[in-house]
Amino acid sequence: MQAQLRYHRIPETLSLFAFSMLHFGCGAEGDRSQVIQRDEQPGAAVTREEFGELTDGTSVDVFTLTNMDGMVVRAITYGGIITSLRVPDRDGQIDDVVLGFDDLAGYLSEHPYFGAIIGRYGNRIAGGRFTLDGQEYTLATNNDPNHLHGGITGFDKVVWQAESFERDDSVGVVFTYSSAAGEEGYPGKLDVRVTYTLTENANELVFDYYAVTDAPTPVNLTQHSYFNLAGDGSGNVVGHELTINADHYTPVDSTLIPSGEIAPVVGTPFDFRTATAIGARIDQEDEQLRHGSGYDHNFVLNRSDGPLTHAVLVYEPQTGRTMDVYTAEPGIQFYAGNFLDGSITGKAGNVYGHRSGFCLETQHFPDSPNKPEFPSTILRPGEEYRTRTIYVFGVRP
Ligand code: GLA
Repeated sequence: MQAQLRYHRIPETLSLFAFSMLHFGCGAEGDRSQVIQRDEQPGAAVTREEFGELTDGTSVDVFTLTNMDGMVVRAITYGGIITSLRVPDRDGQIDDVVLGFDDLAGYLSEHPYFGAIIGRYGNRIAGGRFTLDGQEYTLATNNDPNHLHGGITGFDKVVWQAESFERDDSVGVVFTYSSAAGEEGYPGKLDVRVTYTLTENANELVFDYYAVTDAPTPVNLTQHSYFNLAGDGSGNVVGHELTINADHYTPVDSTLIPSGEIAPVVGTPFDFRTATAIGARIDQEDEQLRHGSGYDHNFVLNRSDGPLTHAVLVYEPQTGRTMDVYTAEPGIQFYAGNFLDGSITGKAGNVYGHRSGFCLETQHFPDSPNKPEFPSTILRPGEEYRTRTIYVFGVRP
């Protein structure tokens, strides 16, 4: 992994902001007191305006985060959805690299979690059931026969409270949501805060997740943006080259529930330890690929000494764009957009065909509430759920 990544940013060279935040512990809790207003100065900027209205009249706002390198991120209060993410290519051309819609109506229609915050539980829980402290809980089986991404009205489909902030070297938005006890069948009231931070001149988008509960509950928050580094609407993503820092992955059954095995990637199409095109092996005859209709699997990240692991490097050869993923999470779901089938028309009339976007969802492993051998996803009263993921955008000459 190190050899393949040598041309790229390593954690020690993250911007001063990200670096200092790592040593701060992963939270915005104390940070909000440090907000510095710099309206008069050049630098990164954040604005807020109305995006649309729900049918009941609830207003949905959009935040626009801009930095000094021309990177622009737009996110709305509905689902915390990232509606666009514009980054330069190797010639300085700026394009939107995420799938989505032009307006709120698109996001209110049926779609596969484009751009959204996922919770309470990212990924699947087998049969929509789990037992916690001797009590059984039943959840919606919205991905028959399993529970997926928090249920019917997950965190992707609620309106979040939001406040923007400007700091010395970054701007961002803090989304908060209080999930009532029993919501979607989960125990305990869960107060959640998700912070998106764009650094001023390092093209880093930092996700900080925080939650507290008043009763034990599973929590596994993630972000479900679909990327196409060649630009939204520019066809499929199979030419993107991926390096995943994982010696192991979690094989699944035909309903995408892990067997519990932590299997080596060596000798399989899941070996992305050296840069490999997404499409190089995706259609091979392989039982696991058949279960996922391609890649839709959790990779067990090799841990590094620091708080964050350099999990993935993506390179798009035509535009030279790169995306690095750093995370405190033990796993990452690599989903190759296998279920996109041309039935959704998104931004600017772009038709989202098979594999026209990929997701890299940092997470604990799927079905952990039913897998005592996996790292625990249970949050208890008095504990704080804190985790961080950073997407870093760059170019290779
Ligand atoms: C996740 C799942 C996929 C699919 C997408 C949404 O990534 O792992 O199987 O459900 O969400 O289509």
